[in-house]
Parts: sequence; structure tokens; C-alpha cells
Amino acid sequence: MDPEQTLQEAHERILACKDANALKDIEREYVGKKGVVASMLATIPSLAPEQRKAHGQKANALKQAITKAVAERQAEFETAKLDQARRADDFDPTLPPPRARRGSLHPITQVTRELEDLFVSMGYEVLDGPEVELDHYNFEALNITKDHPARDSQDTFYCDEEGHLVLRTHTSPVQIRAMEKRKPPFRVIAPGRVFRQETTDASHDHTFYQMEGLVVGDNISVAHLIGAMKTLLRGIFGRDLDVRLRPGHFPFVEPGFELDARCPFCDDGCSVCKKTTWIELLPCGLIHPNVLRAGGIDPERWSGFAFGLGLSRLVMLRHNIDDVRHLLDGDLRFLEQF
Ligand code: DAH
Repeated sequence: MDPEQTLQEAHERILACKDANALKDIEREYVGKKGVVASMLATIPSLAPEQRKAHGQKANALKQAITKAVAERQAEFETAKLDQARRADDFDPTLPPPRARRGSLHPITQVTRELEDLFVSMGYEVLDGPEVELDHYNFEALNITKDHPARDSQDTFYCDEEGHLVLRTHTSPVQIRAMEKRKPPFRVIAPGRVFRQETTDASHDHTFYQMEGLVVGDNISVAHLIGAMKTLLRGIFGRDLDVRLRPGHFPFVEPGFELDARCPFCDDGCSVCKKTTWIELLPCGLIHPNVLRAGGIDPERWSGFAFGLGLSRLVMLRHNIDDVRHLLDGDLRFLEQF
């Protein structure tokens, strides 16, 4: 067999073939496992040693030439296909290209941004605080002393052996940091991530989100607190909701309250309000004098209120999510719904 003649013949057949399938067949016939080139290589052992090298080289050159010709013909087929599509009646070159797939904002990010806008419109400043916090800010300065039982319900992750450095258990430490750097009157909110040493279940996670609020000024009273909270609820649920205050104990406020709102989802009891028509929404109160003092503010001169909104809980309420752990596990089937 003469390789040159074989190549010539292959070229002619490749040029003459009409479609990609026919081309594949020709390719297989020449350079496939049982093709012409393979059988050329198979004869090598039977040749005289001095002929082997040249024969092998010829076989390889043939293979390369045919592979190249096949690829070129294949490219011609593809261009022709594109040309044809372009000439078709329904091709509109002015249409924008398909949009790249984009994700969406996490429901916690969405609610955080909405609340930030709402509070900024009421003259509040938005603050950040460190997630790894000093025991002093997380507990001591908030009137939670070393042996205080409130530490049990906010057991945390300690980050050093002496226990000075903790993962913050709430956003309340930002209250102290805000007071240290500001002169009253001022209003701030501080949304962020908090951590607890927690056995997780559908309503508890070791990591969740809160938003702290703090207002310090002249003669601030519970009336101001209720007014601000009603505005907050209107922003979240889009209408006015009745609220009620129950006494609640938090060492950093006095008096301290649990603020409940009328269930926005029913009139006479549902699964969200556990048939009570009230939902427990946010703890709050008037700032304890010890806390003002710890922040360098004179409690005889100034007063204020604080609140701690559970953002994770709020998102669960809003979207009827039944397990807090969905918020952090990154499952796209969950996230794509927002
Ligand atoms: N920091 C408290 C917690 O995480 C919530 C809280 C209660 C914040 C009362 C406040 C407040 O600002 O006034 O359990």
C-alpha cells in the first residue's frame, strides 16, 4: 500500500462527504482502532529492522494528515450550520444575548437592608461591631456580672484560655461601643451575626442574626420606645399592628419588656401565633443606669431605650419557614425561592 496514494484518496473522500456522520465513518476507516493506519503499524514487527523506523514515521504522518483534514472539514460543517441559522427568518441579531444566571439576596440580607433603610429614614445610624468580642462588652458592661445567671442562657464559645474573648452572644455589646464614641443625643441600630453554645433544633441554631437598637437623649421614655416599635412593625408588615408589653428581665434594661404584636397572619389564632393571636417579637426596655455609666454617659442627665430584634426569627415569620437551620445550610433548593 502506498501511503501517498492512500492520503490522496482519503482527501478526496473527506472533501466529497456531505455531513458530519459520513465524516466520522471515514475517520474511523482510516485512523480508528482497526483502521488503515492501525494495520500499517501492525505490520512493523514483520519488517526488517532497518525498515521499521521509516515505516512507522510514514504511518504517523498519514495519521496526522488525515486527522487534520477531518478537523478542517468538520469546522466547515459547523460554519455552514451557523450560516444557515443566521439566514433563517427567525434570527434577530438585535436581540440581547441570554442573560447570565445570577443568584439572589439571602432573605436575611433582604430584611436587614429593608430595616436599615427604614431606620436611616428615622435618623438612625447603622453600626457594625466585632463578632469576636471582649467579655467586657458582651457581658460585664451590660450589667451581666461573672456570676450572673443570665450567662447560663447565653453560654458562648470562649476564644482564649482566660475567657476574655468570646464570640458575641447578642448584638447588645454594640450599645456600649456606640456610647463610648458618641455624645448624646444619638440613635443607632446594629444588625449582625451572633453565636450561642446551643444544641441545635428547628428553632435554635448556634449562629443567627439580630438587630440591636439604641436611642439616647433627653427624657426618653417608654412612650418613645412604643412609638419607635410601632413604626418598625409598620415597616416590616406593611400596616399598623397592636402591641402589648409584658415585663421581661434583661440585666441591661430597667424596666425591661417583651413586646408582642398582634399576629399579622390571622384574627383568631393560627400555627404561627400558636393560637394566642399574639407573636412575641422583640425584647426591649429603658437603658439601665449602670449600662449608661459603663458607656461613659451620665444617667442623671440622659436616658434612653434599647431593643433587640431577632432577625432570623423575623425572616422565619415572614416567609413561614419552619426550621431556622435552613437559613444557614446553603441548600440551593431553599435559597432559590427568594
Ligand atoms: N440581647 C438580648 C438577647 O439577645 C436581647 C435584648 C433584650 C436586647 C432587651 C435589648 C434589650 O436591647 O433591651 O437575648
